[in-house]
Amino acid sequence: MKGLCILGSTGSIGQNTLRVVRSLPGRFRVVGLSAGKNVELLAEQITEFAPEIAVVGAADDIEPLRRLLLAGGYRRPIKVVAGPAGRIEAATWAEVDFVVSASHGITGLEATYEALRAGKQVGLANKETLVAAGELVMRTAQGQGAQLIPIDSEHSALHQCLRSGSVREVERVVLTASGGPFLRTPRQNFDLIAPEQALAHPIWKMGGRITIDSATLMNKGLEVIEAHWLFGLPASRIEVLIHPESTIHSMIEFCDGSIVAQLAVADMRIPIQYALTFPDRIPVNGRRLRLDLGALRELHFEPPDGARFPCLGLARSALEQGGALPCALNAADEVAVEAFLARKIRFTDIPRVIEGVLARTPGVNLGKLEDVFECDREARVRALELLGPGAGLGHSQHLYENKGDD
Ligand SMILES: NC(=O)c1ccc[n+]([C@@H]2O[C@H](COP(=O)([O-])OP(=O)(O)OC[C@H]3O[C@@H](n4cnc5c(N)ncnc54)[C@H](OP(=O)(O)O)[C@@H]3O)[C@@H](O)[C@H]2O)c1
Repeated sequence: MKGLCILGSTGSIGQNTLRVVRSLPGRFRVVGLSAGKNVELLAEQITEFAPEIAVVGAADDIEPLRRLLLAGGYRRPIKVVAGPAGRIEAATWAEVDFVVSASHGITGLEATYEALRAGKQVGLANKETLVAAGELVMRTAQGQGAQLIPIDSEHSALHQCLRSGSVREVERVVLTASGGPFLRTPRQNFDLIAPEQALAHPIWKMGGRITIDSATLMNKGLEVIEAHWLFGLPASRIEVLIHPESTIHSMIEFCDGSIVAQLAVADMRIPIQYALTFPDRIPVNGRRLRLDLGALRELHFEPPDGARFPCLGLARSALEQGGALPCALNAADEVAVEAFLARKIRFTDIPRVIEGVLARTPGVNLGKLEDVFECDREARVRALELLGPGAGLGHSQHLYENKGDD
């Protein structure tokens, strides 16, 4: 049985991973689970899957978790640890063969990196790991011969398409994007977008940050950077197309003009299962995961509108400039998205904050993990400065609530 550690087990990807594990009895053993603050759900997961090690976000949550387990009559031996060191311990635990990296932001970076250094197989949902530290992470994986299998649906699609041709034969890859909830919203209404509207994604049910990133198209920008590192392709060969049906998850045009695409229902259990069982394919459990081709009438494609969705261009520009820029882009976006969700800034301020941070980021290389964390910290400070009063957001510096002013 394959020993699993799930970083971010209480999140959207984490819970879907456990659904896949549940649906394939006898194939996987859950050895490590790692959460942030949701100790109630973590306690339930421990009770069901009996891991050897569990990680909570902070040391203060260890006792509440232990009390919940005792109150529920859980008596099996378990090591409970906390924070970044705890996540590293779980991800490099001897009985772990495969780490699902699905923690929030860059909270999973260090443990994912150490897992690769320890030669573990990694299923990567957490795109921030490659956006912030792509060169370092890929060098480590290659140096250790550790397999990094994408879970992000677009990159899983590309990984699958590449089974019919090599990277050398690729003319271009096409990442598809649903376009999010504001695909048809007039630009002049963007200032009025409320967090709850941006959180209502038309296709996917995901965590908060990635849902807002999908609405701004920053998610697609981060995916361009992720694809660059995973497949070693320059930005110029990574195209983005809006495809509102989200049926084709991505495609590759090979040098002979053939295009190979991956189609499936929009359900993250498919790419998760693909990563967990790679190189095998296992039948999916249930008819709802089958795509009804007969019911497909039309598939639409259109280029993204860079003027309405500037985050995509900012991400491309950060990738082209390289060095510290992608890491700063990710940190600035995370701060700006949090501020938007807290109603401190408008939807249209998100790219302005990111642009401001990128303009203030020196183009140095990030050779070590410490450099990555330092760059991330500095970019967050710069983003917070830009969010503060009188800090240069121009005409959009008003709080989100002051929406009737221009
Ligand atoms: N959801 C998707 O369909 C999808 C698709 C492709 C890629 N991804 C990527 O997968 C990653 C996870 O996305 P998600 O949608 O699953 O996010 P999510 O639902 O917000 O879950 C995030 C997970 O990280 C944990 N976490 C949050 N803050 C933490 C901290 N400070 N320390 C330790 N753990 C912390 C959360 O724990 P608590 O809940 O216990 O606080 C939760 O387990 C992201 O990088 C995202 O871009 C997601």
